[in-house]
Amino acid sequence: MARILIRGERQLSGQVAISGAKNAALPILAASILAGEGENCLAPIPWLNDVIVMLDLLQSLGLEIETDGVGTVYVRAANLIGWEAPYELVNRMRASVLIMGPLLARLGRARISLPGGCAIGSRPIDLHLRGFHALGAEVQANHGYVEVQAQKLQGAYIYLDYPSVGATENIMMAATLAEGTTVIENAAAEPEIINLAEFLNNMGARISGYGTDRIEIEGVEHLRGTKQVVIPDRIEAATYLIAGALAGGKVTIGPVDTGAMRAVLAKLQEAGCNIVSERDNELTVLPSACLQGIDARTLPYPGFPTDVQPQLIAILTQAHGASLVTETVFENRFQHVPELCRMGAQIKVSGRQALVRGPSRLTGTTVTATDLRAGAALILAGLVAQGETIVTNAYHIDRGYVQIVEKLRALGADIERLPDI
Ligand code: EPZ
Repeated sequence: MARILIRGERQLSGQVAISGAKNAALPILAASILAGEGENCLAPIPWLNDVIVMLDLLQSLGLEIETDGVGTVYVRAANLIGWEAPYELVNRMRASVLIMGPLLARLGRARISLPGGCAIGSRPIDLHLRGFHALGAEVQANHGYVEVQAQKLQGAYIYLDYPSVGATENIMMAATLAEGTTVIENAAAEPEIINLAEFLNNMGARISGYGTDRIEIEGVEHLRGTKQVVIPDRIEAATYLIAGALAGGKVTIGPVDTGAMRAVLAKLQEAGCNIVSERDNELTVLPSACLQGIDARTLPYPGFPTDVQPQLIAILTQAHGASLVTETVFENRFQHVPELCRMGAQIKVSGRQALVRGPSRLTGTTVTATDLRAGAALILAGLVAQGETIVTNAYHIDRGYVQIVEKLRALGADIERLPDI
């Protein structure tokens, strides 16, 4: 079992390199299926467990993959032959569902093991499937698998009941090769959606309106390989900003797109964090006098991101006063709270709200990561806790953070991986 040990109360200072965004790289890798000719050159791809599973999945479908082992991936999809994502791969990575749209567009069929729920919620894919059905696909779910088939997808008007990131991505990818025009209303507008749409257009798609709640896709005959830059990971960036704000030194992070972090910067500054931008696409957090409790509510972009909610709660345990954090995106995303309370935090959860009182003196103990962002929150708490904190099930963290131990150690943290038991 992967474990990470942190000895707390070390001041952090220095520079952190932010990796390519996991939540942009995964849909972009899935979209590379759509290129019937040529080669896709994608960088920087973050070297994460989820990315490696996605590359395995693409190879199992017949795609040719090469990497430079650092961060560039080359994909050729001309001889795409498979259309199925088996249980053992989907079970390891929910984002496998993102190959459905590209397979449906390229081959007219896709069959994936229905992704189960995970620690943060049931994570259904009904909006994805309703979108495929609107595009003319036949959808069948049985024996734990879902299969979609269509002779030729037809453009359609699709209203999403919820601005789902994955559903927007899957439907947008499927619609690129449909006959006619598709409109996705109430679409997700995350920066990762913009990055994916730019990639698709660079391959020859005709997409407009991405980054707003109404995306229009005019179907084309075929797409071909291209080069694509992956955006920096705004969630990783937020995590290190909070680490710096907690541990009281001067920490600079980059590259970042500050425009994609407005909600995070607004809330951290409201809480009293001292964050400045000394150079383009960099941010620096400096020691601050004292932190104040704030209220926060997670929302679809451009609202405060749910993927930073656990890390925000970790720092609010050190703020003076009370903070009310409302999680509106996932139904069960407070699994980090009982673990933080075992370290001495004062947090009460009622439904979708967590009330945090502070400041609390945290003390190290053994805690369990339940998902990647909860795990990151426990590491952050360990940085300021008295004594030793051991985070178990640390494999969750490695799914979303490239070299988190090395990056924090380079800032001065006393952190190490413990041998598996
Ligand atoms: C993406 O997940 C991200 N993952 C998540 O990041 C992120 O938390 C989430 O978007 C929200 O921003 C990737 O991009 C790989 P959703 P996704 O569809 O697409 C409900 C991380 O930590 N819903 O926007 O699965 C769903 O249950 C991960 O990096 C339906 O009801 O998120 C949830 O309550 C965690 N039906 C809400 O919508 C559907 O068909 C948001 O889900 C789809 C979603």
